[in-house]
Amino acid sequence: MPKDPLRTKLCDLLGIEYPVIAFTHCKDVAVAVINAGGFAVLGEAMHTPEEIGADIAWIRERVEGRPYGVDLLLPASAPPSGSLDDLQAKIPVSHRDFARRIKDKYDVPDPKGPVALHTWGGLNQELARAQFEVVLDERVPVIASGLGSPAFLLDAAHERDMVVLGLVGKARQAKRQIEAGVDVIVAQGYDAAGHTGSTGTFSIVAEVAAIAGDTPVVAAGGVTTGRHLAAALCLGASGVWTGTLWLASRESDVDMVVKERLLTATADDTTHSKCISGMTMRVLKCPWTEEWAGPEAPDPLSPPYQMLLSADYIQGANDHHRGDLMTEAAGQGVGFVTSMKPARQILFDVVEEALDTFEGLVGDLT
Ligand SMILES: Cc1cc2nc3c(=O)[nH]c(=O)nc-3n(C[C@H](O)[C@H](O)[C@H](O)COP(=O)(O)O)c2cc1C
Repeated sequence: MPKDPLRTKLCDLLGIEYPVIAFTHCKDVAVAVINAGGFAVLGEAMHTPEEIGADIAWIRERVEGRPYGVDLLLPASAPPSGSLDDLQAKIPVSHRDFARRIKDKYDVPDPKGPVALHTWGGLNQELARAQFEVVLDERVPVIASGLGSPAFLLDAAHERDMVVLGLVGKARQAKRQIEAGVDVIVAQGYDAAGHTGSTGTFSIVAEVAAIAGDTPVVAAGGVTTGRHLAAALCLGASGVWTGTLWLASRESDVDMVVKERLLTATADDTTHSKCISGMTMRVLKCPWTEEWAGPEAPDPLSPPYQMLLSADYIQGANDHHRGDLMTEAAGQGVGFVTSMKPARQILFDVVEEALDTFEGLVGDLT
C-alpha cells in the first residue's frame, strides 16, 4: 500500500491534493473546496450562456490558477428545440388537474414571478448546446455531463486541453463512454441525490471499476463521511463525487429552512421518484412527492414535461419559504449531515476520517 492512500491517479490528473469532488450550485462552496485542496464542479444547467460565462470568470478570479469544473445536462430525451410556452401547451389536462388538486389541498402559493425554467438546459437540445459552447470557449479545465453522454464534445474539449467527465448509472453506459474516450467516469449509484438509476453505489462502482482499465473511476451516491471515501477507494474508485455533503455547509446558498431539514433528515426522508422531472430523481419527501406516490396519481410525464408541471409547485414553495412544502435533491447519506460547518472543515473532516479508517485497517501509514 502506498504511504498516502488518498494520493490517487485522480489527484494527479486534476492536480489536486485530496480525491474529493464537490458537485454544487453554489460558487462560494466551490471556491472554498478548491482552495482547501479538493475539487469542485459547479452545476450550471439552469443558467443562460451569459450567466455561465460570468460564473466562470467569478470562480477563476478566486482560485489562484487552481482547476475547477462546470457541469451541464444534455438529456437524450430533451426535444431538439421549443420554447417554454410551446412545451407547456403539450401538458395533458389530466395532469394539470392533478397538480391543481395538490395546490389546493396544501394551499401552495403562486410563484412570485414566471417559472424560471426558460434557461434550463434540460428544456431542449438547442439550449443545452449553447451552454456547452460557452464552457468550451472559456476552456474550463474540467467539463462534466450530468445527463447524456459527453462523447459529442470530446474532440473539441481535448483540442482545448480540457478534461471530460461523464456521469453514469449503469456499467454499459460507462463502457460506451470509456470507448468514446471520456477521461473520467463518475459511477453514480441509487443512493445519490438528484437523477439516479436503480443500481446501488456499492455495485455500480465495483462494476465500472472492473471494466475501466486506466480510466479513473469516481464513486458517487451516498458519500458523506471519510469511511465512505475509504470504502470507495477500496471498491476501485480513485475518488468521490459528492453533492449532499455540501448542502448545509456555512457557505451554501440553500435556503435556511431546507438546511435545517437536512440536518435532521435520514435516508428515510428521501424518495426516488419521477414526479419532479420525469426521470428518477432522489429528493427530500414533500407533499408533491407523497401525492404522486398515491394510488390516484397519473403516471409522471416524460422529460421535460414533468419538470414544467412540477415547477409551479417548487417555485411557489421556494419563493414563499414554505418549509412544509419545500424539497431539495438529497442522497441517502444525508443522515451524516448533522451540523453546519464551513466547506473547508467538511473536506478536512472527511479526509481525516478516511486516513483514520485506513490506519485502523493496516496500522500507521507514515
Ligand atoms: C441539490 C442537488 C442538485 C443536483 N443537481 C445536479 C445537476 O444539475 N447535474 C448533475 O449532474 N448532478 C446533479 N446532482 C447530483 C450530483 O451531481 C451528485 O451526483 C450527487 O449529489 C451524488 O450523491 P450524494 O448527494 O449522495 O453525494 C445534484 C445533487 C444535489 C444534491
